[in-house]
Parts: sequence; structure tokens; C-alpha cells
Amino acid sequence: TAPRTTPGPLPVAELHLHLDGTLEPEHVLELAARNGVDLPFADIDDLRSRYEFTDLQSFLDLLYTNLTVLRERADFTEMVDRYLERAAAAGVRHAEVSCDVQAHTRRGIPLETVMGGLRDALDRSVATHGVTTRLLVSFWRDGPVDEAFDLLRALVASGIPFDGIGLDSAEVGFPPELFTDVFAFAREHGLHVVAHGGEEGGPEYVTGALDALRAERIDHGIRSLEDDALVERLVAERVPLTVCPLSNVRLRAVDTMADHPLLRMLERGLVVSVHSDDPPYFGGQVDANVDAVVEALGASDEQLAHLARNSFESAFLADDERAGYL
Ligand code: ADE
Ligand code: ZN
Repeated sequence: TAPRTTPGPLPVAELHLHLDGTLEPEHVLELAARNGVDLPFADIDDLRSRYEFTDLQSFLDLLYTNLTVLRERADFTEMVDRYLERAAAAGVRHAEVSCDVQAHTRRGIPLETVMGGLRDALDRSVATHGVTTRLLVSFWRDGPVDEAFDLLRALVASGIPFDGIGLDSAEVGFPPELFTDVFAFAREHGLHVVAHGGEEGGPEYVTGALDALRAERIDHGIRSLEDDALVERLVAERVPLTVCPLSNVRLRAVDTMADHPLLRMLERGLVVSVHSDDPPYFGGQVDANVDAVVEALGASDEQLAHLARNSFESAFLADDERAGYL
């Protein structure tokens, strides 16, 4: 197919983005110096050399070390602002971003510092970056359920606005059913609910997220293809799957980009869209993910338009807002 003729990156909604995973390595070191945080890296080259992963856990180890440089309210604001600036340049018009708030509160950073800092950037994002946003708070599926529940109650009690919750971190061995009550509480409080599933774990993690958590969207979900009945259900119920091709290759969930199931998923009628997960760790924003898919899989302009439309249709936008993007 001929290359896309419209100038600039494809306008999309970013729906699978971990804010804690958006710090560029230079920014990690800048914040470490500013806040007097000791990191186990000699310099920027040493830090950069660590961005080679063998699986999800090897990435999470680096991510969770790097995010300890965030200490002050302004640090969180700066992280979000820098992300939104890069996202806008990559074609993102609407961003549903998540934060592992638990990763910060368990280090003793007050909830108000984390959430206040995020909100300071998000509340002026339309004016500053021309990007509408939603905020999701993600919980560690490999962390204590009680800790997640206590934090969720505190978040709701704080009155600080957020739009939903998610479930992330190490998947295998930490089934969604563990978080049934946490997610029920969130839904009772009018929050949207999403969950990672079928990234490293099998299709039963996706089924569990649907049945036990009533997840409205599945983050990744690529291994759903191993279960035909699940695929039929996801298609029939139009459950969106937020797929991150560069992440999947870098974390070895998929061998090479040429093997990536994205277009097979699209062809089976799944509501898939392309996202970036943790951009500096995996090689770029949404536009880089789209470019990789075009290069390795030969996605057509029509398929790219379909993926972009799916991203807006899968977003937690009101119908009138959505209409403005479609
Ligand atoms: N946290 C940040 N990125 C993640 C991913 N791709 N899977 C699980 N947890 C994550
Ligand atoms: Zn993710």
C-alpha cells in the first residue's frame, strides 16, 4: 500500500500508558541529583545499558528502581508535563494515563503529594498541550491486596478526582480473582475498571479479568488468541484490548515484530488499538509503535485508520466528546 499522505502523526487516543514509566533516563538522573536519591548506576551510559530486558520482571526491576527519584509534588507534575508534551507531538489527542500510586505511598510519599502533583499537570493539559485526559490508578497484582484496598479507600476519601483503576505488575501467579473485592468497591464508587491480562499470562487471566473484575478494557490481551471461545466473547462484547507492540517485543512476550499478532487480532474482529506502555523503556511513543507495525507487518492505511478509530471508541469519553475525535 502507498504511504499515508496526510502530514504528521496519526491522531490517536493513548489508553495504555504508565506515567511512572515515562521518565526518560536523563530525567531519572536529573531528579536523583535534585532530590539526593542514590541510584545503583554510575552515569547515564551505565543507566542506558540497563534497558535490555529478558522478560516482564527484568523490566519492572529497573522501572521500580527509577521511580524512587520522584519525591516532591513538583516532580510528579514535571513528569506528566514532559510526557504530555512528547505525546502531543506523537499525535496523541486524548490520553488515559495510569499511575502506580502504591509504588510511591509505600515509600512514604503522601497520597496528596502524588495525586496533587499529577492533577496539577492534568488539570491544565488541554490548555498546555491540547490533550484531554483521564487518570487511572493502577494497583500491583503482586502486592498485598489489603494494601491496595486501603489505598483505594484513602483515594476515594481524599476527594481528589480520578477516573478509574487498573491492575498491573508481575502477572503470572497473581490471578485477577485476588482483586475481586477491590474492583467491586471501585465499581460501586463509579470508577472505571481496567486490568492487564494475557501479556505473559495465559488467556485465563483475561477471562478472570472479565468475570471476576468486570474489566471494561484489557491491557495487552495478546494471549487471548490462544482461546477461541474467549476471542468470540471479546468480539461479541466489544471489549477493547490495548496492545503495545514495542513493549511486547522488548519484554519477549512476542519473539519479533514480524510475529506480532496485532493484525491477526484486528482481522478476527477484536477491538484492538495501539499504545506505548512505558515509552522510554521500549523505544517510543504511539507513533513509533505504529511505525514499527507498518514496517514489520505492512499495516495498510485502512488498518491504521481502523486502529486509530478503535482507540477513540475504546476511550472513557462521553459521546459528545468522542464525536469530536471521530
Ligand atoms: N507496569 C508498567 N508496564 C507494565 C506492563 N507492561 N505490564 C505490567 N506491569 C507494568
Ligand atoms: Zn502496561
